[in-house]
Amino acid sequence: MRRLEGKVAVVTGAGSGIGRAIAERLAVEAAFVYVAEIDATLGSQTEDALAGRGRFVQTDVTDRQSVTSLFATVRSERQSLDVLVNNAGTNFFSDPLEASDDQWDACMRLDMKAAWLCVQGAVPLMTSGGSIINIASTHPLRTIPGTFPYGAAKGGLLAMTIGWACDFGPRGIRVNAILPGFIVTPLTYKTEKDPEASFRRQMRAQCLKRLGRPEDIAALAAFLASEDGSFMTGAHLILDGGRHVLSAGVLPEE
Ligand SMILES: NC(=O)c1ccc[n+]([C@@H]2O[C@H](COP(=O)([O-])OP(=O)(O)OC[C@H]3O[C@@H](n4cnc5c(N)ncnc54)[C@H](O)[C@@H]3O)[C@@H](O)[C@H]2O)c1
Repeated sequence: MRRLEGKVAVVTGAGSGIGRAIAERLAVEAAFVYVAEIDATLGSQTEDALAGRGRFVQTDVTDRQSVTSLFATVRSERQSLDVLVNNAGTNFFSDPLEASDDQWDACMRLDMKAAWLCVQGAVPLMTSGGSIINIASTHPLRTIPGTFPYGAAKGGLLAMTIGWACDFGPRGIRVNAILPGFIVTPLTYKTEKDPEASFRRQMRAQCLKRLGRPEDIAALAAFLASEDGSFMTGAHLILDGGRHVLSAGVLPEE
């Protein structure tokens, strides 16, 4: 499908995992995609994979100057913007009684404030309307011990999603959030002590008996970015293979 013909998109954290899959899917849908990524190697790899349908601009989304420079590049090269995907983020693990101010601040900067910085850069360029997609998490709804303050930051992102839907709806800009469940990416390999054992455990928590893939999130992002999603705004869309509906948390043993 080429639902994004002539559209320009920015995807943050597009060097890896979910962000890379979204960048690739938007490019397949014929958008030109800016890969806003802090890691030069990963960003260049995604640019290569996009094969001329996008370009890497090294960006630290937690830094106002870096974000300003990203959107100045988009303005000078393409004049306007249609799609922003606020994807860059990471899980933070700490005990609420022991976490430091620095841990709190780092989490809030990356998992919440960065989306606001990017919105400030993107919205003035969305002169013909647009779509903002925030990659949140299911952690604000159901969590596990020790992920403080990640769920709080992603919960803030959900609140900003509905606030911005009100703020920018009259300009034809839609704002939605995707809440991924457990998606196998380099991040899950980094944060799980024993990834394979964890994947086996996670399988029991899925109604659909498979784990999530970055491409699953990318397919929903492409829908939200396109005209197919034109009446959807302020939505919090859980995409987790059905794990949130299991009242016991896991399927019975076979
Ligand atoms: N993987 C999951 O199970 C899962 C579940 C729920 C939510 N999420 C969310 O999805 C998003 C992507 O996660 P992922 O699993 O693909 O992670 P990932 O670690 O594979 O990719 C994240 C990317 O963001 C980049 N990044 C980090 N800090 C940055 C910064 N300051 N500026 C620009 N880029 C930066 C990293 O270099 C990396 O390329 C995150 O917001 C995460 O919280 C992931």
